[in-house]
Amino acid sequence: MNGASQPSSQLQAEGSPVGREQRHESAHLHVAGRAQYVDDMALPAGTLHAAFALSSKAHAQITTLDLSAVLALPGVVDVALPADVPGENNYGGILQDDPIFTDTLVQYAGQPLFAVAARDELTARRAATLAKIAYEELPAVLDIRSAVASDNHVLPSQRLLRGTPNAALDAAPRRLYGHVAIGGQDHFYLEGQVAVALPQEDGGMLIWSSTQHPTEVQHIVAHAIARHAHEVTVQCRRMGGGFGGKESQPGLIAAAAAILAVKTGKPVKLRLDRDVDMLATGKRHDFIADYDVGFEADGRITALKVMMASRCGYSADLSGPVNDRALCHVDNAYFLENVEIVSHRCKTNTVSNTAFRGFGGPQGMMVIEQIVDDIARTLGLDPLVVRRRNFYGIGERDETPYGQRVDDNILDLITDRLVDSSRYDERRTAIAAWNAGNPVIKRGLALTPVKFGISFNATHFNQAGALLHVYNDGTVLLNHGGTEMGQGLYTKVLQVVAHELSIPTSAIRVSAADTSKVPNTSATAASSGSDLNGKAAQHAARRIRRRLEKHAAGLYGVAPSDVRFDNGQVHIGELKTLTFQQLVQGAYFARVPLSATGFYRTPKIHWDRVNLRGRPFYYFAYGAAVVEVAIDTLTGETRLLQVDILHDAGRSLNPAIDRGQIEGGFLQGAGWLTSEELWWNARGELKTHAPSTYKIPTAYDWAERTTIDLLEHPNREASIHRSKAVGEPPLMLGIAVWHAIRDAVASCATPGQLITLPAPATPEAVLRAIGKLRGEAWAA
Ligand code: MTE
Ligand code: MOS
Repeated sequence: MNGASQPSSQLQAEGSPVGREQRHESAHLHVAGRAQYVDDMALPAGTLHAAFALSSKAHAQITTLDLSAVLALPGVVDVALPADVPGENNYGGILQDDPIFTDTLVQYAGQPLFAVAARDELTARRAATLAKIAYEELPAVLDIRSAVASDNHVLPSQRLLRGTPNAALDAAPRRLYGHVAIGGQDHFYLEGQVAVALPQEDGGMLIWSSTQHPTEVQHIVAHAIARHAHEVTVQCRRMGGGFGGKESQPGLIAAAAAILAVKTGKPVKLRLDRDVDMLATGKRHDFIADYDVGFEADGRITALKVMMASRCGYSADLSGPVNDRALCHVDNAYFLENVEIVSHRCKTNTVSNTAFRGFGGPQGMMVIEQIVDDIARTLGLDPLVVRRRNFYGIGERDETPYGQRVDDNILDLITDRLVDSSRYDERRTAIAAWNAGNPVIKRGLALTPVKFGISFNATHFNQAGALLHVYNDGTVLLNHGGTEMGQGLYTKVLQVVAHELSIPTSAIRVSAADTSKVPNTSATAASSGSDLNGKAAQHAARRIRRRLEKHAAGLYGVAPSDVRFDNGQVHIGELKTLTFQQLVQGAYFARVPLSATGFYRTPKIHWDRVNLRGRPFYYFAYGAAVVEVAIDTLTGETRLLQVDILHDAGRSLNPAIDRGQIEGGFLQGAGWLTSEELWWNARGELKTHAPSTYKIPTAYDWAERTTIDLLEHPNREASIHRSKAVGEPPLMLGIAVWHAIRDAVASCATPGQLITLPAPATPEAVLRAIGKLRGEAWAA
């Protein structure tokens, strides 16, 4: 099924699927609507359907909770309250501060209070709205500024310091202060959160979950129903998108279903509808930052102090690591010699924010990119000139603020090529001419770079396992700890195994992620899915191959090194050629074990979480985008005109899949920074909780002229086939869209005037930014 097209130019071995533009292993199922998601699974007779009841207040004590109308609705079978949780009423993965069902304290509007189980989904959802609830309201902290002012934190603040920023600021020839405001983002996975809990004999529980992290769901469910890990199995064949939203949150959904399943003795399915999903589950952290920067007359930064604060919501969730990654990406492509970054992790009475593609990195980069842009506009220089003057050096000016050397720097290489291929300079001139002659429609151009660290900051997550079975008909079943969310991980790992055994990819099937097959897995996250699981599967495949070589060598009296696997065939020196299947059959009869596990841990990395120093990243992935936009200065509307991207996926495992990741990531980043606006009212109610009010980009928003190129550049480190992770980094290419809009807005400014544009740059925000530049009273 996996139709191969032309091999990429850096193919290792003839006939190898590695490096080929193979289509997604489930493409034929996706397009025909036959790919099974959790919601498509046939349910056992008697399965109940559950729904959450959500709080309507942001911060309150519940004084009465009357469920009589809920239970009286025909079709309702049972409810689950905190008292019905057999074990721990918590789904917090790091801190134990996330109740599955809140007791009497309500901490955000949308928080699950209890769950109802009914014979059908609509009855459950209807019943969930029928509780009579009385609240005693408490003062709520709803925004980042108030949380900073009142020291309201979910976690201690962190400070990253290098050099002497205060002295260097005092000595700086030029100095600038400014503010940055960056909005959050809903994941808007097409498949919402869903789980089915299926009680098994003797207290066991089987969970079908749409999750990036089956092992965490296993642990949370086990703790919630007071069972051990070996009694709970979690399976996930695929997700209809996760984007980080299914890293920590599926535990909530699965645990609620499991608690009801224990209480009723029946299988229970819980699928959130879109509004509930958007109200009850966490999003990308919105950030604010205040900066104080010192620089030379040529734009080179000499000192920087940044105060960053993020809205974590009511609990910690993944806010610690997200904010640490933000800290580690404020440098982006730039050498910051004297720098202090203070990071506040604010507690607010809003939903608890979580992982989202880039995991804090995008927000960190937005801070420095705006600073560089502000410097350029102050000096009257093209921002690209100032960017390049601050790039990390090669062999000098190459240490990050957290002490890792940037020893694989290809920023100049990428920028040179992209400036050239996109005809940046010519277009800069043409755009200036256009803007001079057009009072209403203004154009803008920007090139922004990406340098993104690959590995989990927490060193112990950087491990993976795989399980490979070879059946005696010569077919292979592959299982590994990674999950498939559309990113093509399963396709890539399959290619790796096909390469090792030199068999066609059609001879291999990938089975669902399953905690009973590969244990103790890390979340498929931090873009490291193929790095980790590719290596683990390679290890398993190599073990099998060595056993087969040894078997054949013994049988035919040759050295194991004389046994060669080649395109579905096995050559025994010059003596004989067998098919892979014949060799496997022989090995089976000779009682050679045909199943193997594989394991991988990332080398070289270490991280001191307290002092924020070390080598948290195995390597960096790079890229850059040149974006041209047009804005309408009368309506604030914006439009993508041209996109040129050059991205570094190392020696790509699958250029077609990687290009898909780059396109999707870029547009998701563009959506974050332009149209996707989360809006809470003064009572802390999220009012943008459906596609009617929350606008993600569509195909219509895509630029007419788009060029996406992969940089053919093997990873310096010995990653899987020298490829590089590609899941998250391209999202940050979308930052170029925001900067192109800023550039278009800047054409309305007088020289040296600074621009006040928040992200997302919605039409309202663009109009206000222009109004402000023009001194219009309404925009002040
Ligand atoms: N691509 C698709 N189609 N769907 C997704 O949910 N998630 C992104 C990225 N690309 C995602 C995606 C995120 S947040 C991560 S961390 C990586 O994929 C995870 O997969 P990988 O490590 O295999 O790249
Ligand atoms: Mo991705 S945010 O690391 O799941």
